[in-house]
Amino acid sequence: MPPMRQSSLFPELTPPRYAEHTAGSFVGNMDAPVHRWFRYSAGFSGAWAADLIASEAEERPVRVLDPFAGSATTLIAAEQCGAESWGLDSHPFVARVAHAKLAYRSSPSDYRRTAARVLAHAKRIEPDLASYAPLIRRCYSDDALRQLDCLRRAVESVDGDSAPGRLAWLTLAAILRPTSHVGTANWQYLLPDRRKARVAVPFVAFQAMAQVIQDDMEAIGGVTGPRADFGLGDARTCAGLPDRRFNLVVTSPPYPNNYDYADATRLELTFFGEVRGWGDLQQHIRQHLLRSCTQHVPNSAVDLDEVLSSPELAPIATQLRSTCTRLGEIRLARGGKKTYHNMVACYFLDLAQVWRALRRVCQSPCRVCFVIGDSAPYGVYVPVVEWLSELALAAGFRSTSFEKTRDRNTKWKNRKHRVPLCEGRLWALG
Ligand SMILES: C[S@@+](CC[C@H](N)C(=O)[O-])C[C@H]1O[C@@H](n2cnc3c(N)ncnc32)[C@H](O)[C@@H]1O
Repeated sequence: MPPMRQSSLFPELTPPRYAEHTAGSFVGNMDAPVHRWFRYSAGFSGAWAADLIASEAEERPVRVLDPFAGSATTLIAAEQCGAESWGLDSHPFVARVAHAKLAYRSSPSDYRRTAARVLAHAKRIEPDLASYAPLIRRCYSDDALRQLDCLRRAVESVDGDSAPGRLAWLTLAAILRPTSHVGTANWQYLLPDRRKARVAVPFVAFQAMAQVIQDDMEAIGGVTGPRADFGLGDARTCAGLPDRRFNLVVTSPPYPNNYDYADATRLELTFFGEVRGWGDLQQHIRQHLLRSCTQHVPNSAVDLDEVLSSPELAPIATQLRSTCTRLGEIRLARGGKKTYHNMVACYFLDLAQVWRALRRVCQSPCRVCFVIGDSAPYGVYVPVVEWLSELALAAGFRSTSFEKTRDRNTKWKNRKHRVPLCEGRLWALG
């Protein structure tokens, strides 16, 4: 797509090109120190984020913001580039992972001692499986769950606010998948009826993970410079962030593709007792998130007309209404009757608010980079890049452009529709 409404008054705002890495993929992070501590499928490439920040920092001192910080990929990359950075995520479990990973610059020997103490303590205490929800009983053998329960109690005996305490919690969170015999679908959803071939023993996995964390902390010891400032928060308001503070935003909002960030972390949330069943996910998690999945937007919760009449959506209102009307009609003929019509409308309203919040907290000039993809629920194409661009311009950014990084949905087999999709980087400048 060519640059959209590029303003000649702002020649310095030409978007740069970073084509080397697949920005949208977490896969490369599994070999990268610190990034690899927690497999977060929704994450993007730490190497790409670091390249982008380093290259921007050659031109001017950067103040980086990631309002959808996820597992803290951008913030760790910014720290490693010596840049100031801030981040938010509104998913309580994911935010805790990010907060724990950001303790990577604390003392490796304190962490080593804490992890060893946790493991020794866990091996001495009596497990109690009575309080675990049925999902957890299905996901672990009794033997595995006994060890995990003892590890959990031992982790809880450490000061959870201290850096070693945060890292000890992360060590346990990181082994919950490898120690479960239950299969996992794409994007981390659980498949309790499928079994994995290889399952790790919790005490052994904890020790191995602790070694990885300690090795990375020692290897990366030379990182100095500003520490990232991260908190639980909502990108739609960016509440608590000061006005006109940032000049570089590197982020990836949820895509309007029905990925359920709450369900994707159900195993961990249930193990730690934050939810007991599926019904708790809405109240405890989804209600804090951008509305990007149909589970979030039943007809009982959304007044579609009111959403579509919101002034924030004015720049795309006509096209959006016609897409939502079509989706509302198609669903009536489909078995699942998914509420994509509500999801698409609410998603763009939420993103319109994000752009407004970003305009408030960003300096002028600034550069905003969204890693984003389009979608086609029920085969109806949603021009995500185009509409997000319109909303960015309406919020006060001066120009937008899009760099495609990959095509999606090109293998027709087993696909629900044949609409070609893509993923890439949407830049908003101004
Ligand atoms: C695509 S992921 C970002 C992943 C991140 N780039 C990484 O590498 O880990 C989108 C993130 O947005 C978060 N999120 C969803 N709604 C949010 C909101 N309203 N405010 C802040 N974060 C939100 C989700 O919890 C998720 O972690």
